[in-house]
Amino acid sequence: GAPVEVDVSKLKEGQSIKTAWRGKPIFVVKRSPNSVNELEGMADKLKDPKSEKPDTLQPGYIGTLTRSIKDDILVVVGICTHLGCVPQHKKELSAGENGGFFCPCHGSKFDLAGRVYSGVPASNNLEIPPYSYINDNTIMIG
Ligand code: FES
Repeated sequence: GAPVEVDVSKLKEGQSIKTAWRGKPIFVVKRSPNSVNELEGMADKLKDPKSEKPDTLQPGYIGTLTRSIKDDILVVVGICTHLGCVPQHKKELSAGENGGFFCPCHGSKFDLAGRVYSGVPASNNLEIPPYSYINDNTIMIG
């Protein structure tokens, strides 16, 4: 499939853009500095906080904690690693909880780096697709 360009210039903190690449739903999410800081303290709630499972799909050039090239912008494949439903981007996963992704099919939850929570059916973190920046505000996926 052809690469897909996404303009992030109008994306505000907490917002996401949904697009598609190779038939896969893709979320591009703008994280606030606070949301980025919160990623650090999440480890004890997650199954694989450092994405160390060998079958985790992510490019080698992304940050290990943020799972992104730039801290504020997350690019993630919107396919639940349980049985493939499309999770929803949420500003809070439940009252008072950090934002992330919620899968309506069987309740799997992922944080704002696409890392899977403990105690849910999915085992793996969400996939991060290959992407790059072609200028400050334009991402090329693929
Ligand atoms: Fe997402 Fe089952 S497909 S929790």
